[in-house]
Amino acid sequence: MEKILEIKNLKKIYGNKNNITKAINDLSFSVEKGEFVAIMGASGSGKTTLLNCISTIDDVTSGNILIDNKNIINLKEKETAKFRRENLGFIFQDFNLLDTLTIEENIALSLIINKQDYHEVDKRIKDIAKKLGIEGILKKYPYEVSGGQKQRCACARALINNPKLILADEPTGALDSKSSRMLLETMDEMNENLNATILMVTHDAFSASFCGRILFLKDGKIFNEIVKGDKSRKEFFNEILDVLTLLGGDVQNAR
Ligand SMILES: Nc1ncnc2c1ncn2[C@@H]1O[C@H](COP(=O)(O)OP(=O)(O)O)[C@@H](O)[C@H]1O
Ligand SMILES: [Mg+2]
Repeated sequence: MEKILEIKNLKKIYGNKNNITKAINDLSFSVEKGEFVAIMGASGSGKTTLLNCISTIDDVTSGNILIDNKNIINLKEKETAKFRRENLGFIFQDFNLLDTLTIEENIALSLIINKQDYHEVDKRIKDIAKKLGIEGILKKYPYEVSGGQKQRCACARALINNPKLILADEPTGALDSKSSRMLLETMDEMNENLNATILMVTHDAFSASFCGRILFLKDGKIFNEIVKGDKSRKEFFNEILDVLTLLGGDVQNAR
């Protein structure tokens, strides 16, 4: 197995001497290539902080983060932006599609910023669009397509630079249950058929039940870990609820 993400003794402390918050408190775990992993935990347990550290958006206090064996802790500011564009994909809660660009242009944005060859970009878009079933809407604008198609566009955009790792912070947080299921099914397809490695933060047991493995955070540490294995999604869902009961608190209801 190939490790795509390795977190080693990560700490992130906010505040000063008189008022400190240990948002991430000596956290270690890794994600293998092709895994779809969820991070669950109550509000304030450190999920967003963790994702921001992995995204190179936030500095860490100590510890190491390796992405595809490259330690990203000491990257200079200029290097981090490039590293992010070339190695990471993001699925945002509100999808962040630009209304004045076509679906195709939205998907291509990161490649255009990377100044890749036009023919290569075109080929790559067609390939991803075909795999996600949105070839027919590439010339349309976001307001001309359905919610589900917008989601697929956002997923295509996250995949377009062939990222080592896709990060999603509460991607279903603002969606109704039907839209949530569609997005999760698309993410599942990305993982199963396109071998995308995905790390998703979620409060929601239904969302997490689509993943292969779940890490539960409490006070910036791993409290528990469960693996789906051969279980059905329904069985896994029930197992998640059991862990959440153990974990206590507001995981289910918090946003
Ligand atoms: N910029 C910040 N300054 C100070 N404290 C912060 C900051 N961001 C997060 N925290 C604190 O760190 C802890 C973890 O927050 P966060 O990572 O946002 O949790 P989650 O995403 O699981 O709700 C919380 O106690 C929060 O108040
Ligand atoms: Mg959060």
